[in-house]
Amino acid sequence: MLLFIKIDTRYPNFLYICAQYCQNDYYLLTMQTLSQIQILFQQYLVDHQFQNKPQELYDPVNYILSIGGKRLRPALLLLSYQLFDEDIDKALPAAFAIEVFHNFTLLHDDIMDEAPLRRGKPTVHHKYDLNTGILSGDVMMIYAYDYLTKIQDSTKIPAILSVFNQVAIEVCEGQQYDMNFESKNDVKITEYLDMIRQKTAVLLAGGMKIGAILGNANEKQADQIYQFAENIGIAFQLQDDILDTFGDPEKFGKKVGGDIAQNKKTFLLLKAFELADEDLRKELFRFIDMKEDRELEKIDGVKGVYSLLNIKEIANKEKEKYQKKAFEYLHELGVKSEKLKIIKKLAEELLDREI
Ligand code: IPE
Ligand code: IPE
Ligand code: MG
Ligand code: MG
Ligand code: MG
Repeated sequence: MLLFIKIDTRYPNFLYICAQYCQNDYYLLTMQTLSQIQILFQQYLVDHQFQNKPQELYDPVNYILSIGGKRLRPALLLLSYQLFDEDIDKALPAAFAIEVFHNFTLLHDDIMDEAPLRRGKPTVHHKYDLNTGILSGDVMMIYAYDYLTKIQDSTKIPAILSVFNQVAIEVCEGQQYDMNFESKNDVKITEYLDMIRQKTAVLLAGGMKIGAILGNANEKQADQIYQFAENIGIAFQLQDDILDTFGDPEKFGKKVGGDIAQNKKTFLLLKAFELADEDLRKELFRFIDMKEDRELEKIDGVKGVYSLLNIKEIANKEKEKYQKKAFEYLHELGVKSEKLKIIKKLAEELLDREI
């Protein structure tokens, strides 16, 4: 068959543009949906259960990895990769590394926060014991690094390790600030925001940056993706703080009121201090000083002050500010907006989540 194409001389690049357009649309068609990505990752997780010995070390690792979790970080890493390349299998070891690292932080965080419940089940140090929580956590952190070195394209490993090391250091720094703030009564909201950026947001950001590097994004795009996820991460932790006080105990999977019981300096508490008059401020201090044996009274008391001051609504507004900032970075990427839809939808769902 003969095909005649009339080339309009006003548009000398017509054929090129046409080819690009078709290729982009083809790529959109071959993009995996979020549920396909989640299934792929879940299968990788099942195929990579820890079979090593001694069982006392690895059973808790398999336990924490098998009792659920949103698998948010691997999903974000894989979605970031998919913005630039379609061969998602190549990014699975890095996605696994990030999820294992995240679960390591949870084991140690639950010890530090004296948390009894995680994903609706006993925390590792409650189900087993304290030493198990420490050592099984340690080995998970080391395996996270091990999986990062399994990345097929070994030329990318130094860049990826450099991102990951910075993330891992900042998570520890953020965790230490979080603990320091428990006994500090003059924490500023800016200090709190920087603390959550470190303990939570940088892991989401680093994961997405690693996905972008693996997918051959350019340096600017990899940095923009980082900034997107850092802002989403701050909003994500604000939502975690909201749920910790106002969540439904049947759904949340963690002990509701835990932050109040531990004197965590969350956005909610700091804002309440900022807005309270002299009498309410005294009330807040009285609750903060209450000991463990009056925990329920303490939680109810602080929640009462929050509702007087509309703290939940104010926290939701703050969350939206970071979400908006995040989406601005996403749109600066120079990637077709159709391609961003899955990431945007996931971010919206996460910031409105109940678990
Ligand atoms: C919990 O993270 C720790 C925070 C940074 C708030 P997630 O809420 O992602 O926990 P899982 O993995 O879904 O259980
Ligand atoms: C979690 O902060 C940060 C890390 C695990 C590094 P939280 O202490 O608020 O997390 P949850 O609420 O226990 O999941
Ligand atoms: Mg905790
Ligand atoms: Mg904590
Ligand atoms: Mg929390």
